[in-house]
Amino acid sequence: MSATPAVPRAVTVPEFRAAKSRGEKLAVVTAYDYTSARIADSAGVDCLLVGDSLGMVVQGHDTSIPVTLGQIAYHTKCVVRGTRRALIVSDLPFLSYQVSPSQAVRNAGRLIKKAGAHAVKLEGGQRMADAIRAVVNAGIPVMGHVGLTPQSVHLLGGFKVQRDLPQLIADAKAVEDAGAFSLVVESVPADAAAQITQAVGIPTIGIGAGPHCDGQVLVFHDMLGLFTDFKPKFVKRYADLAAHIRTALETYCREVREGKFPGAEHSFR
Ligand code: KIV
Repeated sequence: MSATPAVPRAVTVPEFRAAKSRGEKLAVVTAYDYTSARIADSAGVDCLLVGDSLGMVVQGHDTSIPVTLGQIAYHTKCVVRGTRRALIVSDLPFLSYQVSPSQAVRNAGRLIKKAGAHAVKLEGGQRMADAIRAVVNAGIPVMGHVGLTPQSVHLLGGFKVQRDLPQLIADAKAVEDAGAFSLVVESVPADAAAQITQAVGIPTIGIGAGPHCDGQVLVFHDMLGLFTDFKPKFVKRYADLAAHIRTALETYCREVREGKFPGAEHSFR
């Protein structure tokens, strides 16, 4: 969706959904705090995803599984304060919606009512259709997530590319039929993502899913080169911020030790 910097208009769920029929590609990025949300929002990103990937890039876990609903709510509140235009979607973390549809409604409601998210995202296709339907029936927009679903990493045997096309398409259709307004497609071959995108009327948002999706999502820390433990093949680094930050901090340490900082211009008379 093209940004209108002069008069920024908030991105709504219906507009986000309609971008597909207008042939407009959607730019989504994760955000976890006020400062990065402000930057991404003012850059014209259409949707900020408070993803449970924060478990890895903020908290340092190996997976997103330990992330709690309270943590997502906390980070959502920070992002909400920094956002004027973008749609804010918050992840329902592991075991906050899988137990029953009523659990999904209660916890989705908490992210909307108390934290200020506009929509929630949850992982799973056919097996999560009842939960998606219940949340949507409660008036809460849902973004689905199929393909590699990181909360099921142990069931899937690792962070692997998902190649079962009939199952992927059945999952995508089940998510759409249950009422989701869009769908993250993670780690699937590009031609499979193209077929999924053709099979559904809601926008597909790809990550590791090639160029044929209706939009793309990347993790903030990955795309800006802040998270350097490893780089998945699908990540493009648009900046090398870790190196910039390290250089700045080394300069700061040196200037403090040499008595060069603070100078007169940073001191009160
Ligand atoms: O948690 C997350 O950030 C996500 C995106 C990578 C799609 O689910």
